[in-house]
Amino acid sequence: MKQGKFITIEGSEGAGKTTQINNIKDFLDKQDIEVITTREPGGTLISEKIREILLDNNNTELCTDAEMLLVFAARSQHLHELILPAIEQGKWVISDRFTDSSFAYQGYARGLSLERIKVLKQWVQGDYNPDLTLLFDLPVEVGMARAKKRGPSDRFEQEKLDFFERVRQGFLSMSYLESDRYEVIDAQQTELQVSEQVLKIIKRFLK
Ligand code: TYD
Repeated sequence: MKQGKFITIEGSEGAGKTTQINNIKDFLDKQDIEVITTREPGGTLISEKIREILLDNNNTELCTDAEMLLVFAARSQHLHELILPAIEQGKWVISDRFTDSSFAYQGYARGLSLERIKVLKQWVQGDYNPDLTLLFDLPVEVGMARAKKRGPSDRFEQEKLDFFERVRQGFLSMSYLESDRYEVIDAQQTELQVSEQVLKIIKRFLK
């Protein structure tokens, strides 16, 4: 059987990823492609429990290494329980965030060594990488204003502007370094314009 594809969606807070994931799913459904949408940290029962620890505002003492190990623990479970079996069954998987978020948040923003993160990446996923990564890029202030409207902020959203500036620059650096699988989307445009950009990329990817 033909293997499915793995698409990851990355970006800073308030980039409108969720709406666009639903648009991609609707489009692929119409092409008779079976699609699973999921998210990180999370996606399985156990990984969602780890997510709760990571996002809990009360966990102010969670140290950076523990945070990094937890995101990779959640990812390992997610990959083996959900992502890889689905791809093997020919399904497409779209994940709201994946390993590039660990490089952006724990690496570029928190300052953990990228080399150490690469070791964990190799441990958890070997040489397996997404087939396509869409980066929703927008100025930090715009994203944060949008994220605030969504409701109470989680542990990550308590960070200051310069943290999210490093997240953004981290993602942009990765998009240059791994330009083969990356597509950068200008997420500051209207929802309709963003959706047009996204579907154009997905149509090209299908060919
Ligand atoms: P979420 O509410 O999904 O954020 P968003 O709507 O912005 O995608 O929360 C996920 C948070 O977890 C987000 O702030 C980024 C962070 N995160 C990491 O720090 N490292 C990771 O590896 C992943 C997957 C997420």
